Amino acid sequence: KPALAVASECVPLVKTGGLADVTGALPGAMAANGWGVRTLLPGYRMVMAQAGHGVAVLDLPDLCGGPARVLALQHDGLDLLVLDAPHLYDRDGSPYLDAEGNDWPDNDLRFAALCQVAARIAGGALGDWVPRLLHLHDWQAALVPEYLALLDVQVPVVMTIHNIAFHGLTTADRIAALGLERARFTPEGYEYYGHVSALKAGLVGADRITTVSPTYARELTTPAFGMGLDGVIRARQHLVGGILNGIDTALWNPARDPHIHRFRAPRGKAAARRALREDFALPASKGPLAVVISRLSAQKGLDLLLEALPGFIAAGGQLALLGSGDRALEHAWLQAARDMAGVSVRIGYDEALAHRMFAGADAVLVPSRFEPCGLTQLYALRYGAVPVVARTGGLADTVIHANDAALRAGVATGLVHDPDDAAALSAALAQLCALHARPQVWSSLQTNGMKHPVGWESSSRDYARLFETLVG
Ligand code: ADP
Ligand code: GLC
Repeated sequence: KPALAVASECVPLVKTGGLADVTGALPGAMAANGWGVRTLLPGYRMVMAQAGHGVAVLDLPDLCGGPARVLALQHDGLDLLVLDAPHLYDRDGSPYLDAEGNDWPDNDLRFAALCQVAARIAGGALGDWVPRLLHLHDWQAALVPEYLALLDVQVPVVMTIHNIAFHGLTTADRIAALGLERARFTPEGYEYYGHVSALKAGLVGADRITTVSPTYARELTTPAFGMGLDGVIRARQHLVGGILNGIDTALWNPARDPHIHRFRAPRGKAAARRALREDFALPASKGPLAVVISRLSAQKGLDLLLEALPGFIAAGGQLALLGSGDRALEHAWLQAARDMAGVSVRIGYDEALAHRMFAGADAVLVPSRFEPCGLTQLYALRYGAVPVVARTGGLADTVIHANDAALRAGVATGLVHDPDDAAALSAALAQLCALHARPQVWSSLQTNGMKHPVGWESSSRDYARLFETLVG
């Protein structure tokens, strides 16, 4: 059955975070459940460089102020529709930010255009191919229900929240430019405290709302996690559910990963660990080598880790961090690397290095304040690195804490600590060092982790069941 996914990023063409991992892997898993998912993606410069040879299937002489086309192509197992609109997407920089790190001033229009095209495709603009369902990812795709209503197209819509922190807000004077219906600029519609909220349009307009873990689905109903939209979520709670993310277990397979010293069992990690210490200029050591691979933002709790770090290093641990984002956090981490032997930091974004880090790490730290799902703890499990995570969102749903009961039952996979609490994180790191010093217990944690199912098999079935109920 045909479905259209709409997203602002997708592995392997463009990625800034976990959203791209999900949109890149889910279509393949849905195919096994009888769904043919096509993915509509903005034709950013880096996307066009890889996918510009697609066949033009739709011409749009004027899309939000300039000519545009939709290109169709198969790429790496994905069935892609690329929106080639140079006036919106042909720029240097990231999908959302210019070279100085500021939001593109016309981001509202750039993603409204994507949504308008999705609605037209749902209305039959491609002729022979008409999706029976739309799957919208995050605010960049969330205006679609507004445009469906304007075009009077009836099609079931699933809205997936990957991170409710990002609303896609813009000012009310943009309503005409975005081609929205002014009458729906109300608290019941897409209005949010006098602004236009793209995400809210999706939340009020979708037939079902999903988020990327069951715990985050519950958290979203609370003011502490709902980021101002918890009321909207509560009002539609009967339509909200959590479906846990998986990972692409072919792309992330320690036995076949071309980026790493490959291994099949935990004891095979030694070469990768040595290489990682060399990569980060860390000396040989008996203590655990922990890594962080993350955006540097308040969400990720890495300021708390800076507080807990001296104790961990004093106990014999080492830390290698790869990340970028918030300038103040980048500087604080570079300073920590200067201050403490045993801490090494790489500021930047490097996919191959990330693979090498999961492969070589003894532990992966994810001390997030909130985490809709989180994927790095799943890569950690898959690569025999022990995850140390905050008890929130998908982190709480994917790691089995090594308390005495779990250790005795032989099911523990990692350590789970109270979120937003540097003392709790310190205690977890102390426990990590203690467990690491007990080789048998440690290797059972690693083995359990590597056996833990982290693929899309189960969750893609959940999406398929949801899709089936909507198309009847
Ligand atoms: P989020 O989407 O909130 O950033 P996730 O854990 O879901 O968090 O996904 C993050 C993804 O981005 C993972 O695939 C992770 O490996 C990757 N990643 C994050 N920062 C970097 C970086 N600096 N270099 C390479 N990969 C990174
Ligand atoms: C968001 C969330 C992250 C989640 C990812 C993919 O970026 O911050 O927790 O894993 O989306 O769903």
